[in-house]
Amino acid sequence: MLRTDTPVTVYRKDYTPPPFAIDHAELVLDLDPQRTLVTSTLRFARQAGAPDAPLVLAGEELELIGVSLDGKPVADATQDAGTLTIPGLPAQGTLEITTACQPAANTTLSGLYVSNGNFFTQCEAEGFRRITYFLDRPDVMATYRVTLRADRAAYPVLLSNGNLVGQRELPDGRHEAVWEDPFRKPAYLFALVAGKLECIEERIQSASGKDKLLQVWVEARDLDKTRHAMDSLIHSIRWDERRFGLELDLDRFMIVAVGDFNMGAMENKGLNIFNTKYVLANAQTATDTDFANIEAVVGHEYFHNWTGNRVTCRDWFQLSLKEGLTVFRDQEFSADMMGSESGRAVKRIEDVRVLRQVQFPEDAGPMAHPVRPDSYEEINNFYTVTVYEKGAEVVRMYQTLLGREGFRKGMDLYFQRHDGQAVTCDDFRAAMADANGRDLTQFGLWYSQAGTPVVTARTDWNGDDGSLTLTLSQRCPKVGIETRAGTPEKQPFHIPFALGLLGADGKDLPLQLEGESTPGATTRVLDFTQAEQSFRFINLPRGASAPLPSLLRNFSAPVIVDAEYTDAQLTFQLSHDSDAFNRWEAGQRLATRALLQLVAEVQAGRELKLDPALVQAMRAVLTDDTLNPAFREQALVLPAEAYLAERMGVADPAAIHRARQFMREGLARALQADWLAAYEGNATPGAYSPDATSAARRALRNLALGYLADGGDAAMQALAEQQYQNADNMTDRFAALSALVNSFAPGREHALADFYERFEDDPLVIDKWFSLQGMQRGDVGPHAGKRTIDTVLALMEHPAFNLRNPNRARSLIFSFCSGNPAQFHAQDGSGYRFWADQVLALDAINPQVAARLARVMDRWQKYELALRDRMRAELERVAASSTLSRDVREIVGKALAA
Ligand code: TRP
Ligand code: ZN
Repeated sequence: MLRTDTPVTVYRKDYTPPPFAIDHAELVLDLDPQRTLVTSTLRFARQAGAPDAPLVLAGEELELIGVSLDGKPVADATQDAGTLTIPGLPAQGTLEITTACQPAANTTLSGLYVSNGNFFTQCEAEGFRRITYFLDRPDVMATYRVTLRADRAAYPVLLSNGNLVGQRELPDGRHEAVWEDPFRKPAYLFALVAGKLECIEERIQSASGKDKLLQVWVEARDLDKTRHAMDSLIHSIRWDERRFGLELDLDRFMIVAVGDFNMGAMENKGLNIFNTKYVLANAQTATDTDFANIEAVVGHEYFHNWTGNRVTCRDWFQLSLKEGLTVFRDQEFSADMMGSESGRAVKRIEDVRVLRQVQFPEDAGPMAHPVRPDSYEEINNFYTVTVYEKGAEVVRMYQTLLGREGFRKGMDLYFQRHDGQAVTCDDFRAAMADANGRDLTQFGLWYSQAGTPVVTARTDWNGDDGSLTLTLSQRCPKVGIETRAGTPEKQPFHIPFALGLLGADGKDLPLQLEGESTPGATTRVLDFTQAEQSFRFINLPRGASAPLPSLLRNFSAPVIVDAEYTDAQLTFQLSHDSDAFNRWEAGQRLATRALLQLVAEVQAGRELKLDPALVQAMRAVLTDDTLNPAFREQALVLPAEAYLAERMGVADPAAIHRARQFMREGLARALQADWLAAYEGNATPGAYSPDATSAARRALRNLALGYLADGGDAAMQALAEQQYQNADNMTDRFAALSALVNSFAPGREHALADFYERFEDDPLVIDKWFSLQGMQRGDVGPHAGKRTIDTVLALMEHPAFNLRNPNRARSLIFSFCSGNPAQFHAQDGSGYRFWADQVLALDAINPQVAARLARVMDRWQKYELALRDRMRAELERVAASSTLSRDVREIVGKALAA
């Protein structure tokens, strides 16, 4: 494994074009798990402006066997741990390089590796250099011809990018397949798969009438879990044709599932490789959430074919060019698939929840970085929620500013200008600006400045003339790397600020700005571009009571809105706002305020009381049958503990947990009859279907079940046991199991054991079993005081636990360290010790996964002194390790430097 002692920082400002182009690559791979031979034939051309530069190829963990130039051996090539340098090359020629690598010994899951006996590759971001020496950077694009050779019995299926152009038998029981990818692509999109796999397939015609072959490849035992992925793929293809006029370009498109995978999935040209978690589903084994995630990830990878593959990134600093845009596209796809306006709003709420719970903290911590970072030590650490989710918000803001049609014009121009190229975020912004005749210069700050802007809103009501002046101000102090000396002062962002005004009856008022002759729409997008800016609305109904502003409708920008609403105003908004997102938002503000108040009471050792007004507001939502059940579910889920922690000056996980649990139990008891009615009224009789309407009913029904069980009533817990036993689908069964486990119901142990036995042979279901236990709260029942860490430590010894499988490691270790704040932050420091032990153990196996776990400590400075000291001690213990990967070193180094 490559270990580097001095971290090397790569800077965006240092970008230079490659001195050589490689426009065609022929690869021959003799696949053998112990030692795979790779012969690479590269057609190169020296680029203008680099008359005598040597060719420096990247390569890692490779055994070099030979190099020749135009058929003659090269004698003066030199090697070090990461490069092969070839001096004195002519203007053009052909290089042949032969190397060997060891797939079975590759536990990093980057490059060529073996999973359950089959071969897979993962080349993004810099994995191709672990297969062969190459100019492994995204601005070097080549066509590929790939020959795969392997034992026929052990590896009957041989796949790579593009089209299958030849197949034949070889001596000694081996066989061969030849694949050609006609589209030029960067090396990170290369892929191969070889092994015992089977597929389902469909033939469809694209919008312009061309025949396409679609396949989903899995292990034979999983064939009955592929239908939903195939349906999702077909829906994705149709959606991209309709919404963006983009067609599938290849004749064949393949999805392959693999059980050992570092992330969700990978968009390799024509050969998408997926974590099994985002492919395999049937009613018995997957929940509604799993079904929805599969649809989203299949869409995401498919959409990359245009936003990522046909137009790719010039360098890795531009990662959000493809990721932010493609996340935006998959979010819109999922929203459209919800099939209703209220469904779209629910999807928006879910996406914003993730942004706030994960991205806002990232943007306030030691790893804070702009959507287009300026530097990195290890690029794998920059596949972040900022690049992905905040990046998607930035793309969404173009659409909000330009309208759907304007956005589409920008997309069309982007493809017209850049198809086949490796480009930058600035190129995308220029296409949006030029297609719409808009100046988006200031908008560019969203790419270069980190941090979450805080917007303060003040209103000034003049009842005599019916005018309301809204004054917005924005601030965004320096964060993370920006606090280093020499960083320029930050400038105000261009914020598309959507708003409406509610009249006394709760209805939207027509909006007319001073200077306009007539009122316009009831939702306006204001161009908020200055540090402080006022907007005067006129011709509103005169009188004493001011209209109620509905701010940042549909969350039109990734900012925090600081507004002084009274509880009464929030309750009003919760029941009347025409903007479903802001109805939800009003409920969250109410609940957050009440929860933070309870946290203060816990800290002061005072008696806790539940505010009757809050109970009433919740009851109103719960019993309003005109509302989409999925919306009601979203509105009744209390703000997460991690979100509340961020809202406190000094986070107190134990107090947060007590306060939140107190509120849950209080709402459970106060609304028991209503929860029960919601439970009974939202059954989904008939065969299971994951469609949005049925899933919405199950979501509300199972939320009700969770509350009912938490109320502690034996009859309600018996209801959960009954549902557990009788369920005909995983959504209901797992929800019942969770209700039993979290409420410490008497049936808990029995159900856990039963669940394990039933699904022992299904790794993805067993992951759920581990993760539920990793996230369970401290025992409040007969073993009161028992710590979850003890359960976790015991489960680490379970025969089914395996640190090498990322899904399994995440299911137990990550769920405890990041999904269970109150137990992880135990006063005795046991959680932190466990964290450090696991980061070190994982780092020796898989640095990418270890670095993700390392990030759990990002916010260590937000906690009280005693916890902070213990966290720092463990961070220092990890940092002191002499064998740390570059991946983990960057994370702990930045955490300690903050
Ligand atoms: N580009 C992939 C996506 O967003 C994700 C990805 C990046 C990835 N690096 C990876 C997947 C490493 C697996 C391993 O869809
Ligand atoms: Zn992606």
